[in-house]
Amino acid sequence: MNEPQQPVAKSKSRVMTRRSLLQAASAGAVVGIVGTAPLAIAGAGTSAETRRGDQPTDAASAAAADKSKSFPDKFLWGCATAGHQVEGNNTNSDLWAMEHMPDSMFKEPSGDACDHYHLYPQDIAMLADLGFNTYRFSLEWSRIEPEEGFFSNAELEHYRRMLAACHEHHLTTLLTYSHFSLPRWFAIKGGWQNPAAPDLYARFCEKTTRHLGDLVDYASTFNEPDIPQLLNWINLPMPGKPEASLTEMFQASLMKVRKHLNAPDFASFFVGDGKKIRDGLLAAHAKGKGAMKSVRSEMPVGFNLAMSDDQPAPTDSHLAEKRADVYGPWLEAAKRCDYLGVQTYSRAIVGKKDLPTPKGVETTQVGWEYYPECVEHVVRYASKEAGVPILVTENGVAATDDSRRVEYFQRALTGLKRAIDDGVDVRGYVAWSLLDNFEWMSGFEPKFGIVAVDLATQRRTVKPSGAFLGNIARRNSL
Ligand code: BGC
Repeated sequence: MNEPQQPVAKSKSRVMTRRSLLQAASAGAVVGIVGTAPLAIAGAGTSAETRRGDQPTDAASAAAADKSKSFPDKFLWGCATAGHQVEGNNTNSDLWAMEHMPDSMFKEPSGDACDHYHLYPQDIAMLADLGFNTYRFSLEWSRIEPEEGFFSNAELEHYRRMLAACHEHHLTTLLTYSHFSLPRWFAIKGGWQNPAAPDLYARFCEKTTRHLGDLVDYASTFNEPDIPQLLNWINLPMPGKPEASLTEMFQASLMKVRKHLNAPDFASFFVGDGKKIRDGLLAAHAKGKGAMKSVRSEMPVGFNLAMSDDQPAPTDSHLAEKRADVYGPWLEAAKRCDYLGVQTYSRAIVGKKDLPTPKGVETTQVGWEYYPECVEHVVRYASKEAGVPILVTENGVAATDDSRRVEYFQRALTGLKRAIDDGVDVRGYVAWSLLDNFEWMSGFEPKFGIVAVDLATQRRTVKPSGAFLGNIARRNSL
């Protein structure tokens, strides 16, 4: 069942590059056209960073780099995306339905997003040409299994072509099987609260691994499965309800969605009963991982945990309780994995709950404290607790001023290097995100990308932070 129709060989030959385009761009602020969407290099011509074609070979530049700033051999350097945030037209998903209902909790619908569904060949080529060696992206379950029990070979082949494109560009593939969005039919049946969910998910994992597994270098069962619990710790003051948590807000909107869709059991990843969702996800992780391993025992399997750099409030800190509640069960599960992906953006000062960001500190576009040191602290903690190799699978900053992103990466990586030098087993760093994309309920406003996207034309513009991080990746050194 579902054997690949046109097997794609795991070719390592480089079939296309955009080096010439980038070289041309370095000579002036050139806009090139590749495929259907144009590419531009922001500030091109002003910096040696974008003139990668003129640079010495990777080996020579690595040798020249200051050894004390070098990262371990074979370190993975990448960027991440998630299907629903970039592909566009994910019409069979639960989120699409939620985005389009009246009085939606989403600021705007995802629409065409970055049309990565069609433009992935040039996006993947661009990532490789910037100097990265890794791409993390996700499957959209609702495309692969749009109706319960029907698995689309055509959609599986789409993802197979994406994985093959990565290998053609020498990119290591980190594939997330589930990044928040769900097939609508699955959400209508109760999402992760449905007792049948783990088996339904395991069947999806088995079919997809059979079809794609030979091209997957690192598989992840779930993106941030601890989020439903984490939300309980975040206060979102609402008018007249200063103690209301995000969970309560989501609960209110869940009722509206159920009524609107006439689906009394509907539950998405974000909205539902946090504890029930957590239990469902833990069981689905175990079964999903088992299904993947039954098909490809050698494929490394893990998951990606959302972690803030938790620091105790001076009084009444419930930090240990938060850690046990949010991360505890997942750090246990990680011990039985081949690796743990950690995703961190900032710190949280933990009192009874996470305290509001203190007044006067620099905040990012989404209101989080600008705190790149979280990476060092979180990898130290996660590695000590889980005892398996760590991959930083998301880190970055929402900022319209790209120079803040450059500084963020510089400081985050300086801290990461300190941890590695102290013996913490970190195998890679993957930035969030490759593209300015659909930031869930906040719509397209927050800018996390190292590449800007003009939503009207789908034109991509590499930001200076993209060239900056790509050069670190190419040198494997700060
Ligand atoms: C998620 C991404 C999201 C990013 C920034 C992570 O929680 O995995 O999907 O866009 O954070 O908010």
